[in-house]
Amino acid sequence: MPWTEHHAKSLQETLSRMVAREECASSRHLYEHDISPDPEPSSEEESETDSDGDISLRNSTRSGSAQNIEHIVENNRRYCNETYYMPNDEAEQTRLNIIHQIYLILLDGELTTVPITSDSPRILDIGTGPGDWAIDMGGLDPNSTIIASDISIFDTGICHIDMPNVFFQLCDASDEWEYHEPFDLIHIRGLSGAFRDWSHIYNQAFKHLKPGGYIEVSDCDPAGDSVEVENSDDSYLSIYASAMRSAADAAGYPRDLSHLRRTSLSEAGFVDIKLYDRRVPVGLWPDDVQGKTLGKMTLIAFLEGLEAYSLRPLTATSNWTADEVQDLCDKVKDELISANKVTGRFQTLTGRKPESTQDENNMDTTF
Ligand SMILES: C[S@@+](CC[C@H](N)C(=O)[O-])C[C@H]1O[C@@H](n2cnc3c(N)ncnc32)[C@H](O)[C@@H]1O
Repeated sequence: MPWTEHHAKSLQETLSRMVAREECASSRHLYEHDISPDPEPSSEEESETDSDGDISLRNSTRSGSAQNIEHIVENNRRYCNETYYMPNDEAEQTRLNIIHQIYLILLDGELTTVPITSDSPRILDIGTGPGDWAIDMGGLDPNSTIIASDISIFDTGICHIDMPNVFFQLCDASDEWEYHEPFDLIHIRGLSGAFRDWSHIYNQAFKHLKPGGYIEVSDCDPAGDSVEVENSDDSYLSIYASAMRSAADAAGYPRDLSHLRRTSLSEAGFVDIKLYDRRVPVGLWPDDVQGKTLGKMTLIAFLEGLEAYSLRPLTATSNWTADEVQDLCDKVKDELISANKVTGRFQTLTGRKPESTQDENNMDTTF
């Protein structure tokens, strides 16, 4: 299917989900009160789930604990806990919806760069957010089982339980993983800054993949380091990037693209490692239609992301007030809008768990 057709369909579905989420949130007062309908499988479904022996999946889909979730509101943004630096409010959910569309364009309408060969694949989406990727993946193949895991509850996950093969799970990926059945694919997107120790995540992923299963990790740089503007040494963007780096260092959570080094996966045992590094336009400057669409969406995502990325880290770990952060974000926004040919960087790193020791020994681990 040409990208425009696929993209229009996916965009339409995303918009429908956004509208439904609004209706859902306003009618059910999500987060503050009652969170239902309960995404726990019925006892019939549960026993089916039991048959694959996946206790964590059965437990994971309970929303019981969700009823007691308390969100933290700071400087007019809503957060899921005291530590994770990104908000989980309506504005952030919309930004993530847009970024999902950007990745679809970058991947020519595909959801992943790796092959999925199983007839009934088991797929884990770590840090699923509003779940766009997981929901699209579940829709692609009704025989798949998608576990969409996050420390946070987003409106989409709770309200859209009409996909029998997508299970939302409240779970901290930096804890020990307890899945009882291995996966064909583990997908991690936009988690830069979420973990102190990425090697723990990669080791866990390796352990919980089937032989021959894949990991795919994608990110763009939240520190703004990988956005290129002219005279960038002297820009507000460079002030922003440097403040974000200092805050990340102080917090001990790297917020860059360093988790996307090939060696990060090879050290965990993965082979057939591939790194896709894409420069994408930010703004309306490209001449072609696809480039212009991409540039427009990336610009919106970057502008929306400036405050989302920086407000908590800079006010919590550095000497910034919320007003100062807002002021800096406004200046960076002006700079990005008026600059010429701004580009940003998106990276995807993939690796395969070897089928056998021989496979491991024979494989060239990188290209
Ligand atoms: C920037 S969002 C990306 C969401 C989604 N992957 C996407 O691409 O749209 C990062 C997500 O990671 C989740 N997250 C952060 N720390 C996590 C952790 N320790 N375990 C699981 N999820 C986490 C956040 O709650 C948030 O939903």
